[in-house]
Amino acid sequence: MRNSFALLAGLFALIVPQFTLTAAAQPHSVDAEGHQWWQHAVFYELYPRSFADSNNDGIGDLNGIASKLDYLKQLRVDAIWISPCYPSPQVDFGYDVSDYENIDPMYGTLKDFDHLAAEAKQHNIRIIMDYVINHTSDQHTWFLDSRSSRTAAHRDWYIWRDGKGPDQPPNNWLSTFGHSAWKFDPKTGQYYYHFFYVEQPDLNWRNPEVEKAMFDVTRWWYKRGVSGFRLDAVDTLFEDPNLTDNPVRPGTNQFGDPEMDNKYNTKLPELHGVLRDLRKVADESNAVLIGETWTNDIAELNRYYGEHNDELQLPMDFMFTTVNKLSPSDFRAQIAAVESASGWPTYVISNHDIIRSYNRYGDGQHNDAIAKLMAGLYLTLRGTPIMYYGEELGMENNDPKRKEDVKDPIGQLGWPKQKGRDGERTPMQWNGSPNAGFSTTKPWLPVPESYKTHNVASESKDPSSVLYFYIHLLALRHSNRALLDGKYIALNENDPNVLSYLRQYRGESVLVVLNMSTSEQKASFDLKSNGVSGTEATTLLATAGGQAKQASLSAITVEPFGVYIGQVSGR
Ligand code: GLC
Repeated sequence: MRNSFALLAGLFALIVPQFTLTAAAQPHSVDAEGHQWWQHAVFYELYPRSFADSNNDGIGDLNGIASKLDYLKQLRVDAIWISPCYPSPQVDFGYDVSDYENIDPMYGTLKDFDHLAAEAKQHNIRIIMDYVINHTSDQHTWFLDSRSSRTAAHRDWYIWRDGKGPDQPPNNWLSTFGHSAWKFDPKTGQYYYHFFYVEQPDLNWRNPEVEKAMFDVTRWWYKRGVSGFRLDAVDTLFEDPNLTDNPVRPGTNQFGDPEMDNKYNTKLPELHGVLRDLRKVADESNAVLIGETWTNDIAELNRYYGEHNDELQLPMDFMFTTVNKLSPSDFRAQIAAVESASGWPTYVISNHDIIRSYNRYGDGQHNDAIAKLMAGLYLTLRGTPIMYYGEELGMENNDPKRKEDVKDPIGQLGWPKQKGRDGERTPMQWNGSPNAGFSTTKPWLPVPESYKTHNVASESKDPSSVLYFYIHLLALRHSNRALLDGKYIALNENDPNVLSYLRQYRGESVLVVLNMSTSEQKASFDLKSNGVSGTEATTLLATAGGQAKQASLSAITVEPFGVYIGQVSGR
């Protein structure tokens, strides 16, 4: 592993002279333009089970993460979002929390967390915790007490109701993980509500005691040095107290349940009050709140910023992840929509719940080029990008081939239509040794064969690798004012093959040209109406080898799936 870091360090020595890294590029709390630290930061989601295994038990851990901070720093990551590492029975691999103020022994101890936090600070990397606020594990002491009797102190911390009749749940609501969202508990003769697995009972956010306990958890972590939270499943915090049945649509879903609109159990307006209050607590610590916000349109996304920009600073734009084809017009429309939003854009192309972008966009022949193209897109837009571990290597999904190998319960329930999310959660590929250098023991999930070529050690040595491109691009992004702060201006909007835009900041303009087609394309630009007098671009970064230092704006040639980024003089 040491070797790969040494190689990366060598690589950086090569890159740095090419790009002048200015002090202004470092994430300050507030810069001269009034930007907050999280507006200039590159975030990186890592799945702790799969990132680095320091004790070789096949499961990643906090000391493993700490040992990779040099790598993350060199990549130019500013903040890591760690998927849940709290004590948990692991039914939903950590999203079923049984104690919010501790670390699961499989990941280490609170002392290890403090060590990680101290090391991260040294590296100028912030830590974002994943906060599962809609539900707890059924093994949380709150729920154990809640289910113990109808008069228990925590009874009303969860949602308990009588059935409609014998063997009849209170209403027709479905769990998003399959079948009824209600579970009968014979001990007290009532049903409890769970939007996710049966083992993940929903908290009752109408109870002020729940709110207080959950807010205190955030204070507790802020004191431990975390810089914010990624708020899990915020859509589902509240339900209609009258338990009105949801409208049913024709057909059945992947679990064989009726199709349904979750009208009465998701996106209720009350949730915004909670977000506003969580934000007030966050503001006391200059912290950021990132939201898992599944929205259908910009009006919905805007609601998560808050009417007065007083809710989530970074509601993730998942509409961007639904384009799923290399379509300049679809991306143009999507970017324009997010540009019109009332808050700062937050771009994501992969995470632990969706098939990796490498597979979603790859055509099977040009996957590495397409991986660079996607990076060239979302890392040059105006907004905060959230990377997913391994994306910088071109890591691919490794879906289970047989039902008996599936770990994620939704994959077992929905097989073969739903294979679960194991495929996008496989171990980080560090080198070409067995198990991709993640662990000397068989890891909890197998690595794909492609680890032999797609790993940190070998890609660090290969100037044509996906990693090499990410490193150059992230260095550029941190040092270039127009890429950090410049406004977005769409160009050549009728071009069906090439997506182009300017990022413009005062006197600086950066041109981004992304060829989304299988053939070479020549794009030409007349930027006078954008206040750009120059007719040439100085190449900053391009995927084609041997690209000229200067390119004429009247003919920028980009190879299939190629990326061209150049600086032009102008406003
Ligand atoms: C979120 C998480 C997902 C989890 C679910 C329930 O959607 O991203 O992984 O299964 O919430 O907590």
